[in-house]
Amino acid sequence: MSSLGPDRGGGGAPAVSLRKSGGGVTFDPAVYGVFPLALEVLPAGEPCPCDLFLPLYDQQQKRVKMTLVCGEGNCFQEPWRQRLLAAQQRSIFVYQEQGQALRGYFQRHASQRLDDPQVPASYKRLLIQEMAGLNLRDLYGGDLSPQVVGQAVDGIQGVLERLTGDELLLTNLSEILRSDYNTYSHSVNVSLLAMALGRHLKLTTQRVQALGMAGMLHDLGRAKLPPEMQNKAGPFDEQEWALMRTHPHWGHRLLSSAHSVSMEVLKAVLHHHENADGSGYPHGITAERTPLAARLLRLVDAFDAMTSHRPHRPARQAFEAASIIMQSPQHFGEDLIPPFLRFLASPHMVRKQEPAAGPSQG
Ligand SMILES: [Fe+2]
Ligand SMILES: [Fe+2]
Repeated sequence: MSSLGPDRGGGGAPAVSLRKSGGGVTFDPAVYGVFPLALEVLPAGEPCPCDLFLPLYDQQQKRVKMTLVCGEGNCFQEPWRQRLLAAQQRSIFVYQEQGQALRGYFQRHASQRLDDPQVPASYKRLLIQEMAGLNLRDLYGGDLSPQVVGQAVDGIQGVLERLTGDELLLTNLSEILRSDYNTYSHSVNVSLLAMALGRHLKLTTQRVQALGMAGMLHDLGRAKLPPEMQNKAGPFDEQEWALMRTHPHWGHRLLSSAHSVSMEVLKAVLHHHENADGSGYPHGITAERTPLAARLLRLVDAFDAMTSHRPHRPARQAFEAASIIMQSPQHFGEDLIPPFLRFLASPHMVRKQEPAAGPSQG
């Protein structure tokens, strides 16, 4: 087991309390150096590749403490999962420094599960979502050299090929999109939304994968901003805004160095904050001159930002976000709003009955 920091309580896994993390106490995983992992994707009965924690509120010390649920090498048990899910706890937490061990574990085990027609699409979606998030963590935690960026791009490409290889994986997205805003979950959400929207618009598989790659990496340039701004969701002062407006350029520059990134992806990253009326940035170009992929990213980026929790406001419901988008043709363009609204009501987003798992699913 790895060493435990000052806020990490030790303890036996089965004795975990199901108390939530404290009345009225907000828990920001980034502050504790942890990230969430969907409980459903954790294989039961196998040795854990890392320590698993829950944030529990310590009444005496009046703060949240990370409490060990299952130590590295111990077997996570199915009844624990059921108890946690029954208590509305959908995630378990992993310290960032153990992210790589978790990614290696998923890489070894995921292919088999993703290829298995008996495994339900709902599980595969979650697994792919977690793998994509882990790839991004490696990237943001690295030195952003062309080699590191290139490796992450290759890893993400593998995930995108999975997503476009099975129609069911880009459906029912409203079930898995995360509303806990941080760069990783936001980037994975934007990627999934952009790919599903591309599918809805009947774009080619190559273009859908370009949308997925651009979505995953659209905010990479934020990694070049001062650390205190990277996860700041706003509001910004004037100076912060000026810095924030540089992130598309930084993203474009970092990805250009990786060579394997296509021109379509590079342009989408560079122009994902342009507005249809030319009031956006970095170039202030209108819809006619903005590549379609960048305009689609602009839409799903705004939608995800609005439907995620921010420190200064709660998440909006999807219908509220849709109505704001409807009233903003100057940002998104008259031509894209109706198809986007139809997309939100399509099986890509809303739940439909999934066929029982079977050989026809592949
Ligand atoms: Fe952005
Ligand atoms: Fe974004």
